[in-house]
Amino acid sequence: MNARADNEANESFEAVLRYIRDARGFDFTGYKRASLMRRVRHRMDQAGFSTFEEYLDTLQASPDEFSALFNTILINVTSFFRDPPAWDYVRDEVVPTLLAERRPNEAVRVWSAGCASGEEAYTLAMIFAEAMGVDDFRARVKIYATDVDEEALNEARAASYDAKAVEPVPAELLSRYFESVGGRYVFRKDLRRAVIFGRNDLVKDAPISRVDLLVCRNTLMYLNADTQRTVLGRLHFALAPRGVLFLGHAEMLLSHADRFTPLNLKYRIFHKVLTAGAQVDGIPAPCRSTLRPTRRGWRRSGISHSGPAPWRRSSSPAMTPSR
Ligand SMILES: C[S@@+](CC[C@H](N)C(=O)[O-])C[C@H]1O[C@@H](n2cnc3c(N)ncnc32)[C@H](O)[C@@H]1O
Repeated sequence: MNARADNEANESFEAVLRYIRDARGFDFTGYKRASLMRRVRHRMDQAGFSTFEEYLDTLQASPDEFSALFNTILINVTSFFRDPPAWDYVRDEVVPTLLAERRPNEAVRVWSAGCASGEEAYTLAMIFAEAMGVDDFRARVKIYATDVDEEALNEARAASYDAKAVEPVPAELLSRYFESVGGRYVFRKDLRRAVIFGRNDLVKDAPISRVDLLVCRNTLMYLNADTQRTVLGRLHFALAPRGVLFLGHAEMLLSHADRFTPLNLKYRIFHKVLTAGAQVDGIPAPCRSTLRPTRRGWRRSGISHSGPAPWRRSSSPAMTPSR
């Protein structure tokens, strides 16, 4: 393609994005252009279109085509315990510390943002129920699980998975937390009440508030640096003073040291940085965020990072793939 044809294609691609935003209320303009264009072209190939102009005409006439496109763009790939070593760390370090830092009856608020078909939210439910016991879990924990994709949310609410999907669930947890119904595995109904699904567009909707553990994995990486910055501002706002942010394996915060500080860089787990002067339970914020309770008083948390702070040295975009 020569430069002029390239420009024309880019302009007609932008027209498709503007149409989706203005007529359908979904704004993809903050998504990384190259991969977004690849996915739109992929859908066009499947549907037999070669130019963006032709495709725009069809989108305007056919709501079904819009939903096929939406499904191609919003990659819903997910799994239970995705990246097992990172979840082991959450189970062994993050959750016990989080619970130890709270009073015995204090509510615990968790948010799975970009939850797709729900596996991540139910993974969280199993980890907390194992850590606290089922009764305490039901009484204290709320897991908000959100996505922009209504179809994925409907699957998540149904909580019914095939044998392949539950393969990553350890056998003991599978028998404790799932009922077998007609060859499928359905997450326990009594515990499902603690998991609240809803539509939330991370790019434009108000966030959930006072969140203790915010899991936003494999979602921010589709957004461009500016949009990531905006969304990360919302995620920072969403977190409670002692809140923890858990990102995906291929996501890294490189230029947000003012808002997040690593607990474990390898597993992409960060602590909210409190603004100067903030106090939590009467203790100055910068100290409080790395302290944990023991019988003798407060001591430094075992999950603080060590060594130099590589995220401070880089001026790269907000998130980059891991090596
Ligand atoms: C690859 S899946 C990740 C699912 C899960 N978090 C995981 O790591 O396994 C990305 C999800 O982000 C959702 N998503 C994309 N853009 C979004 C937005 N602006 N707001 C909320 N969710 C979004 C998609 O619909 C999709 O379900």
